[in-house]
Amino acid sequence: QEGGKDPHHDDIDQLIEKLPREKIMNWSLILHEDGFWCPERLLRPLISFQRNYDSKDNDILLATMPKSGTTWLKALAFSIVNRDIYSVSQSPLHTSNPHELVPFEFQLAGQRNRDEGRDYHVFATHMPYASLPDSIFSSKCKIVYLCRNPLDQFVSDWHFHEQMCWDVKPEFAIEDALDLFLQGKQNYGPFWEQIQGYWNASLKFPGKVLFIKYEDLKKDCRSVVKRIAQFLQMPFAEEEEKNGLVEQIVKLCSFESLSNMEVNKPGKWNANFRVSNNVFFRKGEVGDWINYLNPTSASRVASLMKEKFGDSGLTF
Ligand code: A3P
Repeated sequence: QEGGKDPHHDDIDQLIEKLPREKIMNWSLILHEDGFWCPERLLRPLISFQRNYDSKDNDILLATMPKSGTTWLKALAFSIVNRDIYSVSQSPLHTSNPHELVPFEFQLAGQRNRDEGRDYHVFATHMPYASLPDSIFSSKCKIVYLCRNPLDQFVSDWHFHEQMCWDVKPEFAIEDALDLFLQGKQNYGPFWEQIQGYWNASLKFPGKVLFIKYEDLKKDCRSVVKRIAQFLQMPFAEEEEKNGLVEQIVKLCSFESLSNMEVNKPGKWNANFRVSNNVFFRKGEVGDWINYLNPTSASRVASLMKEKFGDSGLTF
């Protein structure tokens, strides 16, 4: 530092000033120079994470588009990696929201020390694959990417914005939100860039990136949980399987179970996200978009997906 000023911060300030912005309801998005839209208030910590994060081999990164089931994946991953420390009946998930147990990258300052001595360090991000810090790629950090049908993700996101704590609640028609969504203007959008980035990485580096889908978790959570454990090189032992541990974890982390925990009921304020904890648990269903989008709107999304995903093998 020179004369009390941090040159590093000045540099970020200058950078931020020049970036395009978009207002969605009362929510300010800014276009990161890597080409994704992020909440303006998070840009500085995200840049700092990109520049400074020193990934270690025991890192486990959970990556998602917002509203794709991040909360669920955090609960499952936490339970899988901590199963030698907590029995399911004693899991901290009974008393803490999954977001308190598994931080996002922007909350990481000081976390490394806290986890020193542990076998792993689980955290989450909504950032695109190509924007992750170099150290994530040079370390043995493993990445689990959870993807969700963009139509359901969009509808979930729209509801989430509706429930944020506004001083004056803005009116925002779902059709207007859809127009922006189709231009890629949503938190961490464009969705097609992000999904494809992790998808391609999972094909190229299957030992580094595991690509899973919300819909598969809903269909057969048990199998996906076993796949995640295997990928993390913590497969369930025969004894654990025989004792029903996989089923117990699936049940503990289910929508019904988590949403009924006292800590996840309305009124348990989550300061980091300006919402109450219950807002992370709305319906938890596949295909709910049909109740909110008319066929014309849905076909606009379908054509865009066809155009963007082409013959990549990505289907929803
Ligand atoms: P809906 O709004 O469609 O209900 P995120 O955790 O990324 O913010 O995503 C939130 C979405 O995941 C919400 O979707 C929420 O209901 C759903 N969800 C949260 N916990 C879940 C669980 N245990 N099982 C299934 N879905 C869950």
